[in-house]
Amino acid sequence: MDYKHTPVLLNEVLEWLKVNHGIYVDATVGGGGYAGKILEILGSAGSLIGIDCDQDALNYTSKYLSQYYNKQLKLIKGNFSDILNILKKMEVNEIQGIIFDLGISSYQVDFAPRGFSFRADAPLDMRMDQTQKLTAKDLINELSKEELSRILRDYGQEHYARKIAGLIIQERGKKIIKTTRELAEIAERAVRYKKKIHPATKTFQALRIAVNKELENLSLGLENALKVLAKNGRILVISYHSLEDKIVKQFFNKYSGRCICSPGLIICQCNPQKKLKVLTKKPIAPAKEEILINPRARSAKLRVACKI
Ligand SMILES: C[S@@+](CC[C@H](N)C(=O)[O-])C[C@H]1O[C@@H](n2cnc3c(N)ncnc32)[C@H](O)[C@@H]1O
Repeated sequence: MDYKHTPVLLNEVLEWLKVNHGIYVDATVGGGGYAGKILEILGSAGSLIGIDCDQDALNYTSKYLSQYYNKQLKLIKGNFSDILNILKKMEVNEIQGIIFDLGISSYQVDFAPRGFSFRADAPLDMRMDQTQKLTAKDLINELSKEELSRILRDYGQEHYARKIAGLIIQERGKKIIKTTRELAEIAERAVRYKKKIHPATKTFQALRIAVNKELENLSLGLENALKVLAKNGRILVISYHSLEDKIVKQFFNKYSGRCICSPGLIICQCNPQKKLKVLTKKPIAPAKEEILINPRARSAKLRVACKI
């Protein structure tokens, strides 16, 4: 299948990244939607490092941006949580700006064999990095009822978490659950939403987050990116659900000197520091026109901060 992904909030990203000169990082380069434009603006004044954990994305982008590839554009297969090691190996000490466009690409959702979608029947995979060992099938067939229900509740905010987990245990007692269709049918049996979302939506979101350790990687990626960001360098993050956005917001608050401890705590434990200036008081959302053209943009939120 062709690699297709429409970049979200493209104009806003270019405006807020303030591309000027030096080394920039696209931590989730995907299909190179931002990368191509950043390179165009940079010209010969700098270079871009594009990271992605999905080899399919890198294969596509190395061709799509072949005029820059291995010149101003270096593509690295890796996890953005590992950015310090990635940059160290490249002998890069400081970067002028970084963008994280979180979650999965349209290609990953739409290409059925990747197993991210309940709309097609495929092996229960859901790995962004296909060299990773752990798949969704492993979690579904090996975790306890308590662990499954915690994942569905915490990562999917699924009201029917225990019921779905119970049905998973029941069904896998008869035979191994191997496909997206089998899992979607279990969710369909357990869930009675009034809202117009597919009953398996939250189950699939939760599992995907767990398989790819998305929230842990985000926290690490942000902390590590801050260590290599130059003074006045900008960090941009686009999130697509409230769990991601909460991590970004708390990270920005903590490093702009605000305490993020829960209100009940008498002594602060979060150790706030003043390293960032938050530039977006409220997150930037796509305009209606963009959502009309690209409905997948509808939940996007862009937050921007600058190193001080
Ligand atoms: C929303 S897409 C990015 C699309 C990109 N902005 C574009 O214009 O094509 C997210 C990409 O980030 C990658 N990704 C997600 N989490 C990652 C992580 N922790 N480390 C490296 N890549 C990651 C995914 O494989 C996917 O290709």
